[in-house]
Amino acid sequence: MKITVVGAGAVGATCADNIARKELASELVLLDIKEGFAEGKAQDMMQTAALLGFDTIITGSTNDYSKTANSDVVVITSGLPRKPGMTREELIGTNAGIVKGVCENILKHSPNAIIIVISNPMDTMTYLALNSTGLPKNRIIGMGGTLDSARFKYQLSTTLKCSPADLNALVVGGHGDTTMIPLIKHATWNSIPVTKFLSEEQQQTIINDTMVGGATLTKLLGTSAWYAPGAAGAALVESIVRDEKKLFTCCVSLNGEYGQNDICLGVPVVIGKNGWEKIVEMDLSADEQAAFNKSADAVRNMNDVLKTL
Ligand code: 2OP
Repeated sequence: MKITVVGAGAVGATCADNIARKELASELVLLDIKEGFAEGKAQDMMQTAALLGFDTIITGSTNDYSKTANSDVVVITSGLPRKPGMTREELIGTNAGIVKGVCENILKHSPNAIIIVISNPMDTMTYLALNSTGLPKNRIIGMGGTLDSARFKYQLSTTLKCSPADLNALVVGGHGDTTMIPLIKHATWNSIPVTKFLSEEQQQTIINDTMVGGATLTKLLGTSAWYAPGAAGAALVESIVRDEKKLFTCCVSLNGEYGQNDICLGVPVVIGKNGWEKIVEMDLSADEQAAFNKSADAVRNMNDVLKTL
């Protein structure tokens, strides 16, 4: 198994580190445009192998895509991260060109790869990756909802004082501060609805804190977060390479599902060796469906910006 992570910044390096520690690949390539940067990160990570006991071979490459040839899975983290006060959407001008170029280069050397998109604005970058590569839709996966659902579980677990691992909770819709939809009425604590234990006010606070989860960290850190985004990317890689068939919320191409077409948006999907293998349709309430449609409108407006670049 060969995996490439494009972008050796904080998110890409953390994702690669998780992939290596979990031994998801025999070969792992880290690629970056900054001279020597990916090579340095790869070497640093390789020097943890003796301490952590993994046998993945990690190599770095300065923009030489021939080193990524025949990758089974490629994770794209390239582009600018957001700064405090910025929305993910403000990154579109710079990141669209970068992600398009990365997709073209990846495809030249790894025509059979499954692509995971982390770059922001993630929903639009996933749509761009799908349309610019022309790959079968199942091989293009946007990571956002996996991260947002993990953040939702974090917020729930701190209020409920329970283990995040005991929670089932999904965030659907877009990966934007105002477009994501934490589905609190569907969330359970080992099958028991969480709403049984939370006041309406507590529920609203959890929803709000989840939606601004990324922005809160950007303010604290001075740049975008990396541990949870990197771990979310690696969790998707794991489900693909081990063919786990786990259910995650991911940004995928919708063709009538959830009433939407010609858009990539976060919905529950099964992730296995073929990429996203199945969209799971939930019974959304009228309010939830209305929020989903509103989220789709906002993402569609952002997708329209691609035509002007
Ligand atoms: C975040 O929400 C990187 O978009 C990512 O932290």
